[in-house]
Amino acid sequence: MKVLAIIGSPTGADGFTYRSVQALEQSLAQRTDVTFDYRFLGERPLPLCRGRLSCVRDGEQQCPFRDDLMPLEQAMHAADVVVFASPVHCFNASALMKNLFDLFVYQMHRPDFFARRAVVVTTAAGAGQKGVLDYLERTVANWGFWVVGRLGTHAGLFDEPKYQARLTKAADALADRLIATTGQPRPAPGLVDLIGFRVWRSVVTRTRQESPYDWAQWQERGWLDRSWYLPGRVNRVANALAAGIEWFIGAAIANVWVRPVR
Ligand SMILES: Cc1cc2nc3c(=O)[nH]c(=O)nc-3n(C[C@H](O)[C@H](O)[C@H](O)COP(=O)(O)O)c2cc1C
Repeated sequence: MKVLAIIGSPTGADGFTYRSVQALEQSLAQRTDVTFDYRFLGERPLPLCRGRLSCVRDGEQQCPFRDDLMPLEQAMHAADVVVFASPVHCFNASALMKNLFDLFVYQMHRPDFFARRAVVVTTAAGAGQKGVLDYLERTVANWGFWVVGRLGTHAGLFDEPKYQARLTKAADALADRLIATTGQPRPAPGLVDLIGFRVWRSVVTRTRQESPYDWAQWQERGWLDRSWYLPGRVNRVANALAAGIEWFIGAAIANVWVRPVR
């Protein structure tokens, strides 16, 4: 199994984010033939996303930082599993990980990682693990990854033997899950996935003039006429519900029902 581990902590190999991923590496190494390729975002930080959306509008090749991103994108495609690991910083992911996600925003519009599995990992001195895991999971699921597991650790307890035993148990369970899902077909999309698909499709359709590349890609990939990115059956009830929600969102926008949020 080839694992690419993206470590979004500025403390790199000295930090607990790395140690959390190492726990997974150890559990996997005890069970299967595995290689871990670590990329430390803090070593050579990527440039700050300029927020111009040229990648969405005109294609990712137009990103001024394309050359910086390409090696990482290629490495993600080459791996069986990608681990996205970030510490909790002010109840959010680290700025390094957030910037990575911003730079890859075109993946939210045109997801490309359906053949890959992901694991999300975080660590905190106190609290905030769940919020960060949810955020990491939601983002990379939007890129197409099949998120098969998550691990949130407590940095302050790392060296307590009792905690180490618990961490090993959690890492073992995650390793078992990774092995069990190897070569397996990903589950059919659920209601949330189907709603997400339709929301993106309506965004792409509504912004066709401003973002012609985005729309053309959706057309080329055949997504404009589908219920989900991948061919195959989708649950009919969930799909009907998703269509109803899509209609409601479309009507809310067309009729300007949308109010400013307080
Ligand atoms: C800027 C910053 C913000 C932080 N915010 C939180 C927080 O919101 N909640 C928390 O429990 N710990 C917080 N911490 C503590 C880190 O999560 C903790 O130190 C963790 O070990 C960092 O990961 P690392 O060891 O890989 O650097 C924060 C640390 C930093 C540097």
